[in-house]
Amino acid sequence: MNKKIALIFGITGQDGSYLAELLLNKKYKVYGVKRRTSLIHTTRIDHIYEDFHLKPNLILKYGDVTDFSNVFNLIDQIRPDEIYNLAAQSNVGVSFELAEYTAQTDSIGTLRILEAIRIIDKKRKMKFYQASTSEIFGNSPDKPYNEKSKFEPVSPYGTAKLYSYWITKNYREAYSMFTSNGILFNHESPRRGENFISRKTIIGLIKVLKGKQKCLYLGNLYSKRDWGHAKEFVEAQWKILQNKKPDDFVIATGKNYSVKDLVNLVLKKLQIKSKWKKNKDGLEYVVATENKQSIKKSQVIVKQEKIYFRPNEVHNLKGNYSKAKKILKWKPKINFDKLISEMVESDLKLIK
Ligand code: NAP
Ligand code: GDD
Repeated sequence: MNKKIALIFGITGQDGSYLAELLLNKKYKVYGVKRRTSLIHTTRIDHIYEDFHLKPNLILKYGDVTDFSNVFNLIDQIRPDEIYNLAAQSNVGVSFELAEYTAQTDSIGTLRILEAIRIIDKKRKMKFYQASTSEIFGNSPDKPYNEKSKFEPVSPYGTAKLYSYWITKNYREAYSMFTSNGILFNHESPRRGENFISRKTIIGLIKVLKGKQKCLYLGNLYSKRDWGHAKEFVEAQWKILQNKKPDDFVIATGKNYSVKDLVNLVLKKLQIKSKWKKNKDGLEYVVATENKQSIKKSQVIVKQEKIYFRPNEVHNLKGNYSKAKKILKWKPKINFDKLISEMVESDLKLIK
């Protein structure tokens, strides 16, 4: 039997790297799209090239979802069975500063892929996965969110991703294409980008502990997120495309924690004794209450900074993954505590 062929837009990202591993282990031939950059940025997938068994089935191509002719030619030449669109400007905070670029990538990028499939795949054999997000719910009231909840995005990122959600559904209904959305809540891992809150907090506090940085600066401490493990969440992405029919699924853990809970957990894992205080402007900070490695008693080790607050915020995200559990037989196993332990251990090894 011929190997199944997958094409991943966004293979150099957190999810792309785990998804590539998963598909290669399932004996797929995997094509991945990487962007041209001035420095090589394939660190999340380099280990695959060191794996004798996986390497022959991974092929990287240059590409960008803002370039239709590139997207079209890739799909036309590769003729994949499954296409995963993970490519995005994925930072919500940054999307306020790069609103137009975020729309070009996160909205029109999806449309370009769908159009290419529609034109090329006349027999409607290709399956398409769209990386949708809990950000599309924004601050809509009916929590925990499921596939029927109202969408009220509050950022350029969330709004751009909502376009992609709908256009994916439109192409399914209008052209009978196999196009599905995974509405994924936050998921982290040791491969998480360093400017997302989990990794930023862990790296920052380890550097403070080792004397490489004096203090960690953060924004809003009171937003809540439903944090899962990326490795488990990419398995759901694959299962969504193995379902008999195209559909939309919420993927979450069903539990949520605040940013402050996250900071406290990392402090605990690093055994840093400390207490929270508030300054006259109402901004909070953390003071060490005893010496620990490079940290001195009374040192301010975490501080809220106005520049890290966003113009608008999603306050409280929690997902209901019952549909995925029932139909895809998917459920998360790694809880928040275990996830953060794994990330702390990994960064302790990296930051010597
Ligand atoms: P990530 O680490 O930021 O990876 C994003 C990937 O997209 C990278 O490979 C990036 O390439 C690529 N990319 C960015 N702009 C591109 C463009 N114009 N053309 C082609 N590729 C482009 O994000 P992630 O955490 O793996 O998330 C994967 C997807 O799921 C994203 O679409 C994200 O919005 C969505 N999502 C993520 C979460 C989460 O909590 N992680 C939750 C819900 C949805 P470079 O390496 O060159 O930058
Ligand atoms: N990044 C960041 N940096 N976030 C901070 C900081 C900081 O210094 N201080 C506080 N936060 C708060 C943010 O305001 C937000 O409320 C929360 O921490 C989580 O921020 P991120 O880790 O950047 O993730 P996100 O929830 O905005 O977006 C992630 O999850 C979405 C799914 O809900 C991204 O992965 C998106 O791509 C994804 O769609």
